[in-house]
Amino acid sequence: MLQRTFSIVKPDAVRNGHTASILAEIEKAGFKIVSIKRMSLTEEQAQGFYAVHAARPFFGALTQFMASGAIFPMVLEKENAIADLRKLMGATNPANAEEGTIRKKFAESIEANAIHGSDAEDTAAFEIGYFFAGYELK
Ligand code: CDP
Ligand code: MG
Repeated sequence: MLQRTFSIVKPDAVRNGHTASILAEIEKAGFKIVSIKRMSLTEEQAQGFYAVHAARPFFGALTQFMASGAIFPMVLEKENAIADLRKLMGATNPANAEEGTIRKKFAESIEANAIHGSDAEDTAAFEIGYFFAGYELK
């Protein structure tokens, strides 16, 4: 089933000059980039995006980090896109990420871990709608 998911090249990866390399990995893996833009988040916007984690101890640091520099939010399309992107990303903590994954190659730490990817259909729909209008998703 052709499916869409949502991803972000996070501020650490943009700062470290890894954006193009990460996009190349995504395209090599067979994803179509449906829409992408460069922007920065306010802390309030980052809090809205990560609202599901509001009660977690890392929430304040995470949302400050996500507002700390430019990001590239994007919508990706492929068969089985949600699960396949999670596989390509690797574990949240790069110390546990498998060889060849984006986080293994490019992440700095469990917080500054280079890339976001939606974890389910409902979160993908929320996250796509948080960043993109319908007319940007043709
Ligand atoms: O991004 P992923 O779905 O793999 O992980 P998550 O559990 O949904 O957590 C969201 C983000 O919070 C992670 O990608 C990390 O940037 C950050 N995080 C953190 O700073 N410290 C943790 N112990 C867990 C997550
Ligand atoms: Mg997550």
